[in-house]
Amino acid sequence: MRSLTGHCKVVGSVLAMMMKEMGPCYLQNHCACRLALSYPAFASTSNTRKLVSCSLYTEPSCKEGLAKEPRNMQYVSKVDRPENVYILGIETSCDDTAAAVVRGDGKILSEVVSSQAEMLTQYGGVFPKIAEEGHAKAIDKVVSEALFQAGIKESGLSAVAVTIGPGLSLCLRVGVRKARSLTKIHRLPWIGVHHMEGHALVARLTDPQLEFPFLVLLVSGGHNLLLLAQKVGDYIQLGTTLDDAIGEAYDKTARELGLDLSKGGGPALERLALEGDDKAFNFSVPMRSVQDCNFSFAGLKTRVKMLISSQDIKPSIVHIDEANAEDRQIRADIAASFQRVAVLHLEDRCDRAIEWAKSMAPIRSLVVSGGVASNKVVRERLRNLAEKHGLRITCPPPRLCTDNGVMIAWTGVEHFKLGRIQPPPPLDEPDDCYLDLRPRWQLGEIYAGGLRTARSLKSTNAHPSLTAEMRIHSSM
Ligand code: KG4
Ligand code: ZN
Repeated sequence: MRSLTGHCKVVGSVLAMMMKEMGPCYLQNHCACRLALSYPAFASTSNTRKLVSCSLYTEPSCKEGLAKEPRNMQYVSKVDRPENVYILGIETSCDDTAAAVVRGDGKILSEVVSSQAEMLTQYGGVFPKIAEEGHAKAIDKVVSEALFQAGIKESGLSAVAVTIGPGLSLCLRVGVRKARSLTKIHRLPWIGVHHMEGHALVARLTDPQLEFPFLVLLVSGGHNLLLLAQKVGDYIQLGTTLDDAIGEAYDKTARELGLDLSKGGGPALERLALEGDDKAFNFSVPMRSVQDCNFSFAGLKTRVKMLISSQDIKPSIVHIDEANAEDRQIRADIAASFQRVAVLHLEDRCDRAIEWAKSMAPIRSLVVSGGVASNKVVRERLRNLAEKHGLRITCPPPRLCTDNGVMIAWTGVEHFKLGRIQPPPPLDEPDDCYLDLRPRWQLGEIYAGGLRTARSLKSTNAHPSLTAEMRIHSSM
């Protein structure tokens, strides 16, 4: 690829110099920005790529350049064969500290997760400051272990991929700092990954036959999304949640029912529901009268809470393991009834999203991913729905549905192949420098046809969506 874009004279001439030195490469940037290049060009340990280290600073007068980070440029690395690409993925957006090494051809070389589930048991939720401390304690060990298991040294990596959003800022910061320090020392490129794209794209690692375009339902603790995936980095958002995500509803209900949260609220509720009658209590299915693809779980969660307090059970005092048979049965019936309606709501919205997506693109597959997609009832019901519409279904194995480093490393591979990588941080970058973290970051562009109720959606995003950013890059 030989494209040279740069609106400012200085950048133009520096680029020309780089191309002379390096051969095929390109860089895109805003006008009125200043480029500082640390020369000479560095060549990596692997002869499959060659990059120079450089930094882009924004002139104070430049209104377009938003960051002190080199956000608006790309180097295209020269990669001959996927087997020669080794990406380390780091994930710290919520309560799991995870790292993995994945090869460009999809071979998983290592995966390590350190969970903070005891925080759920102790505090009933994720507390950012406590989670940050947990990540800080675990991160070095988790990353070293991932490299050790993969049998690779930092210098043998092609790049480091790290979640930069969405998630808790304090937690994201731990992973991003680690990634930046590794890439700074070992002069490696890095890739900022969107956590939800990680959940979606990991399906392409586990199912190599999965081709774009496809419909994807993402169900996790913080997000509920229906997306038409058009290509890597390009999504149309058909629906999102207007309030709580389904995972949050599972977690809160599990807590109200006095379940053991040490392995997560969702799995505990799923297990108890096996003992219950799912029609014992009749909760209404949310949003049946609203003809769109958005979700709402707050009402269901509140109705379940009210039902629990109206029953002759004391889950806040009596733990499920100490409850008598009658009490346990009531709790199991509540769990099963909640789950039936929560999953029905997913089916309703997916049913419509399949119709919408089919009218927009020749989709052949439905992907279901995110923590809640490890639930057997969710997988089975959505499998039936996909079959009804003549679609294949892809659900990654449960360990890759919940947060993990593999999905971040693999998303790194996908972007690396497209050349969407950032150069290593400057050698003199201080540890406490500004970091490009995106706690609220939309993945796709909202589907105009689905905007009827979307007016009530919170629009507090500080960053353009990943899709909008990628489209700007490819049009420059
Ligand atoms: O994707 P994930 O690991 O983290 C986020 O990005 O939020 O999802 C975590 C959520 C939690 O709410 C957890 O309770 C839920 O996924 N979850 C489940 C199951 N396994 C995990 N919910 C229902 N059934 C499960 N088996
Ligand atoms: Zn997640």
